[in-house]
Amino acid sequence: MAQKTSDSHETQGTQGTPLEQKLRDGTAIFGVVGLGYVGLPLAVEMAKAGHTTIGFEVSAQRAQEVNAGRSYIGDVASDELAQLVSEGRLRATRDFADAAYCDCIAICVPTPLSATKEPDVSYMVDAATALAPHVTPDTLVTLESTTYPGTTEEILLPILEANAQLRHGDNLFVAFSPERVDPGNPRFQTKNTPKVVGGTSPRCTELATLFYERFLDQVVPVSTARAAELSKLLENIFRCVNIALVNELAQLCERMDIDIWEVVDAAKTKPFGFMPFYPGPGLGGHCIPIDPFYLSWKAREYDFRTEFIELSGKVNENMPYYVVDRLMDALNTHAKALSGSRVLVLGVAYKADIDDMRESPAIKVITQVKAKGATVVFHDPFVSEYVQDGQRVASVPLSVDEVRAADAVLILTGHTEVDYAMVADNAALILDTRNVLKAVEGDHVIRL
Ligand SMILES: NC(=O)c1ccc[n+]([C@@H]2O[C@H](COP(=O)([O-])OP(=O)(O)OC[C@H]3O[C@@H](n4cnc5c(N)ncnc54)[C@H](O)[C@@H]3O)[C@@H](O)[C@H]2O)c1
Repeated sequence: MAQKTSDSHETQGTQGTPLEQKLRDGTAIFGVVGLGYVGLPLAVEMAKAGHTTIGFEVSAQRAQEVNAGRSYIGDVASDELAQLVSEGRLRATRDFADAAYCDCIAICVPTPLSATKEPDVSYMVDAATALAPHVTPDTLVTLESTTYPGTTEEILLPILEANAQLRHGDNLFVAFSPERVDPGNPRFQTKNTPKVVGGTSPRCTELATLFYERFLDQVVPVSTARAAELSKLLENIFRCVNIALVNELAQLCERMDIDIWEVVDAAKTKPFGFMPFYPGPGLGGHCIPIDPFYLSWKAREYDFRTEFIELSGKVNENMPYYVVDRLMDALNTHAKALSGSRVLVLGVAYKADIDDMRESPAIKVITQVKAKGATVVFHDPFVSEYVQDGQRVASVPLSVDEVRAADAVLILTGHTEVDYAMVADNAALILDTRNVLKAVEGDHVIRL
């Protein structure tokens, strides 16, 4: 692969630069940093659109898997990946020097919270620092990792500008474009989910729009990177707050002896102005439990308290504890204590029909149930095992004997491919936090 040409634009103006021409004629080479839930599907779409695509990945194992055409991400089929790799359209590397080949690079690395709920942008800083010396003039770099408003300008841009060859707005173009992928969603994937794009200058927005239009169905430009950064946080705060609202109502409904699920189902028949959210055992995944706190942290710099975020965080964080209380109450009705009971947990992934356990509330629930003296076994068709406190815990097969052996079955994830009818027929007691047993009658089924 030839290194890209890096003409200066001082004599050319910025219109019709080589980068723009390559984006228009489809010859631009693309890079993706971080090949996870976000980055691998994105890289696949770029390559499918006909662009030579290089994935930069620190994990040697992941880079090897990609180059062997084996997908480790549910939304990416191995045969499709293998074909793109064999045709030379997609490859993965740990060598950031290959960034010199790329015209456009999207950074998709994790943005977690520290133990004290402060933004941890270290992955992004590491990725940008590794890239910066190899980025050649006339390159667009976009950040896709969810983060607080200002990150692209305040952190990413200065790291890239440390490369003396690069001049922002002249031969270096930087933008933020939030990723909205919803792993496992059968209707909306990377390609057909509209993509918001905000540059660090109007020209950066234009080029970033051209970039994403090469391989995605719809691009939505906004005026600044900060607006794009906040739009993503608004989406996730909206979910976090509404889930908290319904979780709080679920607790009130229990006291008032009203079925919260029936209430939500009734409310959602309103054809306008209402969107259903459902209660559950707590928030999970890499986004909703984390992203809102990126904003509350940044807001403090402006002497501003984001009270909706704090309150919804409090309600949602309490849900695993509430579930354990409900489990103890349920066992009590059978004259049993949680201590000494055997509990079969159904589902440990944070949501239905995926294998992702990041931030899963199941871990908090299981930890407490064990701490209170119960024996816990779990079944999850998507998670064969997980590691907790350094110990591997394996999923048990779901059998009549296993269900009958349990003093209580605790449904924490509503995976579709579970034989719930068999569970309902054989369990002594079930606490269903996902309403998967909606149609089952009987005192032995207790809903959240
Ligand atoms: N997973 C989702 O559903 C989702 C949805 C929307 C937005 N996001 C956001 O997208 C970002 C990425 O999330 P993800 O779920 O893809 O994470 P992930 O953990 O699945 O993938 C991140 C990848 O980046 C790699 N990586 C880490 N540091 C690196 C570095 N310095 N250089 C190269 N590779 C590096 C990791 O090895 C991993 O393969 C996060 O900011 C997240 O909040 C995620």
